[in-house]
Amino acid sequence: MDAPMRRLQAAIGGPDAMVTEFVRVTDTLLPPKVFYRLVPELQQEVCGYGHVPLTVQLLGSNPESLGMNAVRAVELGSRAIDLNFGCPAKTVNKSMGGAIMLRQPDSVYAAVKGVRQAVDSRYPVSGKMRLGYEDKSLALENAKAIEEGGAAYLTVHARTKVEGYKPPAHWEWIARIRESVAIPVVANGEIWTPEDYHRCREISGCARVMIGRGLVANPFLVEQIRNPEASRDTDVNWSRLQPYLLGFFEDVRSTIEERHVHGRIKQWLTMLGWHFPQAKELFQRLRTQREVLGVERELRRNLA
Ligand SMILES: Cc1cc2nc3c(=O)[nH]c(=O)nc-3n(C[C@H](O)[C@H](O)[C@H](O)COP(=O)(O)O)c2cc1C
Repeated sequence: MDAPMRRLQAAIGGPDAMVTEFVRVTDTLLPPKVFYRLVPELQQEVCGYGHVPLTVQLLGSNPESLGMNAVRAVELGSRAIDLNFGCPAKTVNKSMGGAIMLRQPDSVYAAVKGVRQAVDSRYPVSGKMRLGYEDKSLALENAKAIEEGGAAYLTVHARTKVEGYKPPAHWEWIARIRESVAIPVVANGEIWTPEDYHRCREISGCARVMIGRGLVANPFLVEQIRNPEASRDTDVNWSRLQPYLLGFFEDVRSTIEERHVHGRIKQWLTMLGWHFPQAKELFQRLRTQREVLGVERELRRNLA
């Protein structure tokens, strides 16, 4: 999630912990302003939201450079470092970052070890992997590489790179990985409802889960998981969401370039539309708007 979405999730009061979008690391030490742009929370006294810690995620393949940048992230205020071995984007895979590293467990090991050795042991280092690149044959080896590199825990997005974001997520593979390593494993992929959450925990055997799109599409999902009595009526929850939507618009408007605002709002409305039919309607109403003022007019006209 980006910063406006993290602020919204924190305001709604959902998750126990959050991780940033990846900060891409090549061969240089990134200047603080790059970290501050992607992770403005580093400028707060504590990087996070009350009891909800925020971990900075790095993506790269050069162990030395990852280590230097991890040290910088910690010096700037991150209390932990997560490493991305799952991103499917062509641009990052071309430069040997993200999911492509899963073809070479040695490179995964070296990246984790490079960061673990560079960063003071008070700060946990973790890894996030997919089940593989083309296939799942190296899944256990990669999980072990992350463990042996010194990770405190491992998050598994239960699909290969080639499987993209298509259902299903193979939660039974998370169980195999969990059984093959001693560090805690966090299960990830295709959790859209409280029922999915319970089934994922049951099948994977993991105590902890990480939720991506499901929480963006339904910001009340964590509340619904925690409290079976919480309303799941989309009319009720759409009304509750309206002030947050307007707040999100204001937040986005004040933090990103004006020409990108309409795209960001439409992106969230598209994802909200997976859960709320009302969001689909609203999307249709502002679909043709490209100016901030037009987007604002439609939002104010249609939201309380
Ligand atoms: C638009 C988008 C951006 C993402 N960016 C990141 C990222 O920066 N780092 C990361 O570890 N995962 C990223 N992911 C993957 C999610 O964290 C998650 O692993 C994946 O969506 C599967 O979980 P889900 O089915 O709950 O969404 C991204 C996913 C999407 C759709």
